[in-house]
Amino acid sequence: MNEFAQESSIQKVALVTGATGFVGSHLVKRLVQDGWKTHIVCRTDSQLPTSSEFTEIAKHIYDGSTDSMIKCVAEAKPDIVFHLASLFLSQHETKDVNDLIQSNVLFGNQLLDAMRVNNVSKLINTGTSWQHYNNEDYNPVCLYAATKQAFETLLEYYVQACNFKAITLKLFDTYGPDDPRPKIFNLLNKAAITGQPLDMSAGEQLIDLVHIDDVVEAFSICAQRLLENEVRQKEIYAVSSGHALPLKELVDIYVKVTGQRLNINWGSRAYRYREVMNTWNNGKIPPKWKKKINLNNGLTKLVNLKK
Ligand SMILES: NC(=O)c1ccc[n+]([C@@H]2O[C@H](COP(=O)([O-])OP(=O)(O)OC[C@H]3O[C@@H](n4cnc5c(N)ncnc54)[C@H](OP(=O)(O)O)[C@@H]3O)[C@@H](O)[C@H]2O)c1
Repeated sequence: MNEFAQESSIQKVALVTGATGFVGSHLVKRLVQDGWKTHIVCRTDSQLPTSSEFTEIAKHIYDGSTDSMIKCVAEAKPDIVFHLASLFLSQHETKDVNDLIQSNVLFGNQLLDAMRVNNVSKLINTGTSWQHYNNEDYNPVCLYAATKQAFETLLEYYVQACNFKAITLKLFDTYGPDDPRPKIFNLLNKAAITGQPLDMSAGEQLIDLVHIDDVVEAFSICAQRLLENEVRQKEIYAVSSGHALPLKELVDIYVKVTGQRLNINWGSRAYRYREVMNTWNNGKIPPKWKKKINLNNGLTKLVNLKK
């Protein structure tokens, strides 16, 4: 149990959306380990992780309606809502517009209103560094990033008019165990195992990778800020490693740490449209948070887990 849960005689209650996702599932594990009574909002067909922590949580079904969301919040009566549910698409097609708006805007607004009618006012929201293409205050890399910004705009109403206290954590790239996403280390692993050549861009784009344990620590620290009433209205933080590396260097580190051989065709693929060549570096990191796991150590941990 963490310091706060130990100090407090009353068990704190969390409601987590996106709990079945990569970040959400690690956050749920941490909350349960820290002694929080943890509730999740999921869909009827959501696949719950099999880890033991998930046997201790309370599950609430969202069926797409605002009424079901109101019921989720009413049943959980959370001290803090952790909002992570999102549909991520690096590029969209016209057919994706409905799903992006449903998942990243409507779902979130239903959640905010369900909080309002249930007198729940403390929220940790999850944004993305991709809201800041070219290091600008707002320039979305893609429609997904624009929907994240749209949600923040809607949240502003609840902050101004309904006395919500909210922290938005803007995440960069994340890595760690139990990651089903086709992200860089999974792609490299697959290429190493199969021996197949991997076609890649020229590899000059910067990537800011943060270990999942550090990401979850940022959520935990910010939850404490909200519980201790340190947030006046809203705060926005960047969960950045502070040390973005070119993709090519990341691959070199991977090769050094794993000892795997890779056959990469650098430059055989074009950079994608609006590729993020330089990562956002104007954000403020969360107070009292510091990256603890550097890439070498994080990768070594990951490789050892797989042995
Ligand atoms: N991971 C990163 O590197 C990264 C970087 C920047 C920002 N973020 C943000 O961090 C958060 C977590 O990311 P992640 O990588 O953990 O996501 P993820 O693995 O893709 O998981 C997405 C989660 O959202 C839920 N979800 C999606 N659409 C939904 C809908 N319409 N209704 C209800 N639930 C829905 C999914 O539930 P089901 O199980 O029901 O599908 C799942 O639990 C997201 O807000 C994302 O935008 C992540």
